Amino acid sequence: MATHSGTWGYRDRFGDRFGRTYFRRFGPGVVSSVGVGTYLGDPTDAVDERYREAIVAALDNGVNVVDTAVNYRCGRSERVVGHALRDADADRESVLVATKGGFLPFDGSPPADPSAYVRREFVETGLVDPADLVRGSHCIAPDFLDAMVDRSLEALGIETIDLYYVHNPETQLHARDREAVYDALEAAFERLEARVADGDVGAYGVATWEAFRVPPEHPSYLSLPAVVDRARAAAETVGNDEVGLRAVQLPFNVLMADAFTVAAHPTDDGRVSALEFANEAGLGVFASASIAQGDLATSLPGAIAAELEGDTAAQRAINFARSAPGVTCALVGTSRRAHVDENVAAGTFDPLGAAAFDAVFE
Ligand SMILES: NC(=O)c1ccc[n+]([C@@H]2O[C@H](COP(=O)([O-])OP(=O)(O)OC[C@H]3O[C@@H](n4cnc5c(N)ncnc54)[C@H](OP(=O)(O)O)[C@@H]3O)[C@@H](O)[C@H]2O)c1
Repeated sequence: MATHSGTWGYRDRFGDRFGRTYFRRFGPGVVSSVGVGTYLGDPTDAVDERYREAIVAALDNGVNVVDTAVNYRCGRSERVVGHALRDADADRESVLVATKGGFLPFDGSPPADPSAYVRREFVETGLVDPADLVRGSHCIAPDFLDAMVDRSLEALGIETIDLYYVHNPETQLHARDREAVYDALEAAFERLEARVADGDVGAYGVATWEAFRVPPEHPSYLSLPAVVDRARAAAETVGNDEVGLRAVQLPFNVLMADAFTVAAHPTDDGRVSALEFANEAGLGVFASASIAQGDLATSLPGAIAAELEGDTAAQRAINFARSAPGVTCALVGTSRRAHVDENVAAGTFDPLGAAAFDAVFE
C-alpha cells in the first residue's frame, strides 16, 4: 500500500523536476497533482497493451496516482493497472492506487445480452438483490460492494486498495429519494469502514459525475455535508476512531468548473462550492475529465489559455484543473506514451496562485 515513507521517497526522487506544489499532501503521504486515469478506450488487448506501457511510463516519471474502476473497459483496466504496477520501477509503497465500485462489471468484453448476463452473474448468484439494482446496472448495497472490493484486489493483484470510491451514487436517485440514498451510502460506508479496519482498504471516497457540482434543486444533487455526516456515523457504528472518508472525485475542467463556481453545499455561513466544502472538511479532491475527455487538448478558450502556463493546450488545461484551490490531483485518462510525456510535463510549470485563479473568472 502507499505509505508515508514510500510516497515521500518518491517525491524526493522526482520533486526537483517539477514546479511549485506539484506534490501535495494526501492520505499517508504525498501524491502528484497529475494522475493517470483508465476510463476510456475499447476493451481490447491492443488498448490494454497501450495502457500498460503508458501507466508504466507515468509511474516511472513522476506520477504516483492511478485511478481505475471495477467496471472500466469491462474489468480490463484494473488488470492493466495491476500489470503496470508490477512492471514499473516505482515501488508499490510509493503509488496511490484508487478504484471504484457501484456499476456492475462485465468480464473482459461486453456480453451479447447484458440483461441476461446481469441476471445470471449477479442476481441468480445472490450478489445483487433486484431491489437494490438501479437502471439494471448500478448497486451500492454493502454485500455487493464487499464482493467488488475483493474482485478489485484480485484484478489489481495488490493487498490494499489505497482509495476506494463509491462510484456515482447519484445513479441511485433514479429509483429512490435523497434520504434513502444517504441511508444507502451510510450502509455502504459502514462496510468500507470495516474494510479499512481490516486493512485491505486504506481510505474511501465518493466519486460523482453530477452530484456535488449541481445546485440543490437539481435531481442529481447530493449534499456533501450530509455525506460527511453519514461517514462520521458509519465510523462511529463500526468503532473506528478516525473517519475513513478522505476524498471526493468530480469532473473539473475549463468547461466544467461548477465545483468551484456553484455554491451548492450548506454550511453555518451559507452555501459554499464543492471545492470549498471539501477543503474545509479535510477531504482530498481528485478532478476527473481534466481535459474534457480530450476536447481541451485541441482548443482552449483563448482568454483562459492566456492566463495559464504550459506549452500545449492539454498542458494548460491540466494546469487549470490542478490550480483550483482545493484540488489535490488532476486525473487525465491516458493510454498513449506520447500523451503521458506531454501531460506529466504540465507539472513542470507552476500552477496559478489562488488570486490568479479567481481572476480567470472575472
Ligand atoms: N464519475 C467518475 O467517477 C469518473 C468519470 C469520468 C472519469 N473518471 C476518471 O477520471 C479520469 C480522467 O477522465 P477521462 O479519462 O474521462 O477524461 P480526460 O482525462 O479529460 O480525457 C481523456 C482523453 O484525452 C486523451 N488525451 C490524454 N492526454 C492527451 C493529450 N496530451 N493530447 C491529446 N489527447 C489526450 C486520451 O486519449 P489517449 O487514451 O489516446 O491517451 C483520452 O481519450 C478517467 O480516466 C477516470 O479514471 C471518473
